[in-house]
Amino acid sequence: MVIAPLLRYARELLSIALSPGDVAVDATVGNGHDTLFLAERVGPTGRVIGFDVQEMALERARERLADAGVLERVELRQMSHALMSDGVPEDWRGRVKAVMFNLGYLPGGDRAVVTESASTLAALQAGLDLLAPGGVMTVMIYSGHQAGKAESSAVLAWAESLEQTKVHVLLHRFLNQKNDPPVLLALEKREF
Ligand SMILES: C[S@@+](CC[C@H](N)C(=O)[O-])C[C@H]1O[C@@H](n2cnc3c(N)ncnc32)[C@H](O)[C@@H]1O
Repeated sequence: MVIAPLLRYARELLSIALSPGDVAVDATVGNGHDTLFLAERVGPTGRVIGFDVQEMALERARERLADAGVLERVELRQMSHALMSDGVPEDWRGRVKAVMFNLGYLPGGDRAVVTESASTLAALQAGLDLLAPGGVMTVMIYSGHQAGKAESSAVLAWAESLEQTKVHVLLHRFLNQKNDPPVLLALEKREF
C-alpha cells in the first residue's frame, strides 16, 4: 500500500511544527487516526477541533479517541470543513500550528460521500488563514477515483498560485508508482 509512507511523512512534517499545548485542526476526521495523532502531539493542555460531514465517521473517531483517553482534548464537529472559520474559536486565528487534510472517501464507509473541489478549496484557504507563522498544513490527495481527478487538479492549481513570500509549498510524490498514487501537499506559513 503506497499511502502509508506518505501519511507517515505528513505526520513527520506536522510534528516539526507541533508542541504540547498547541491547537490543531483535523479537516477530515474520517476514522479518527489523524485526529488521534494530533491529540497525542498537543498533549493534555492542547486542543484539537475535527470536522467531518458524516456522523458515522465521527462516531468511529469518538470511540478511537475515548479508547486512547484523549477525547477531552478534542471537539468533533459534524459540519463541512468549508465552514472551518465558523467552527473554531475566534482567537485561534493565526495560532493554529497544524491543519491536516486527508481527502477522498471514508475507508469502510459510503464511497459516494467524497470531498469535492469547491468545498475543499474553501477549506484549504480557511486552514491557511488559521495557521500560525511556522505552522504546517498537510493535504493527502487521491486522484485515483473519478471526483479525485478534478479535485486534485484544483488543489494543485490553488497551491501553485500561493504567494511565495507568504507560504512555502512542497509537493511529495512517488516517481515509480503506477495507477495514480496519492500525493502529499505540504504548506508552511512563513514567518513575517
Ligand atoms: C480519507 S477520509 C479521512 C481519513 C481520516 N483522516 C482518518 O485518519 O481516518 C475523508 C473524510 O472526509 C470526509 N468529508 C467529505 N467531505 C467533507 C467536507 N466537506 N467536510 C469535512 N469532511 C468531509 C468524509 O466523510 C471522510 O470521512
